[in-house]
Amino acid sequence: MQHDDAIKKVLISEEQIRNRIAELGAQISHDYQGKDLLLVGILKGAWIYLADLVRAIDMNADVDFLAVSSYGNDFSSSGNLTFLKDLDGSCEGRHVLIVEDIVDSGLTLSALCELIKSRKAASVEVTTLLSKRAHRKTDISVKYVGFEIPDEFVLGYGLDYCQFYRGIKDICVLKESVYSK
Ligand code: PRP
Repeated sequence: MQHDDAIKKVLISEEQIRNRIAELGAQISHDYQGKDLLLVGILKGAWIYLADLVRAIDMNADVDFLAVSSYGNDFSSSGNLTFLKDLDGSCEGRHVLIVEDIVDSGLTLSALCELIKSRKAASVEVTTLLSKRAHRKTDISVKYVGFEIPDEFVLGYGLDYCQFYRGIKDICVLKESVYSK
């Protein structure tokens, strides 16, 4: 299927994403100046956001990754995390900024924050490109949010539908006809 056949509309354009990431990068650089910052990208969805964010941050930042899956190919988070890859290094004593593509129920993030805290990080904060606040099932705090979005199934810029469409440059809404087949 071509990309255009799956897209109902562009929700957030490539340019809007670029501009917002520049703002977030400046804010993060200001907040973490002089600190040992470790960006922890949550695979797979966050890798494109992290790649752009680290280049918008004007200071040294180390990068590591955790791979978890909570959705599988379903439309809502099960809350049961499958850990697929652990951090390569230690986060003890470091200022960890978890980098997510989307926070929906917040169940994934709650579990991840607990994990990082249990490893004695100096601080743990979260940035997510997208947030569906109306869907939250936890009171998890997200310090740096790119965009609050409505309750629609979105893809592109790292987000998938059944592992496809991650390479689309904009954040798009999936056509209902694609998943109602
Ligand atoms: C997505 C997303 C977050 C999580 C958010 O991951 O990347 O990690 O779901 O959902 P929640 O707030 O309801 O817990 P997904 O399981 O789809 O895996 P992926 O990143 O590999 O696509």
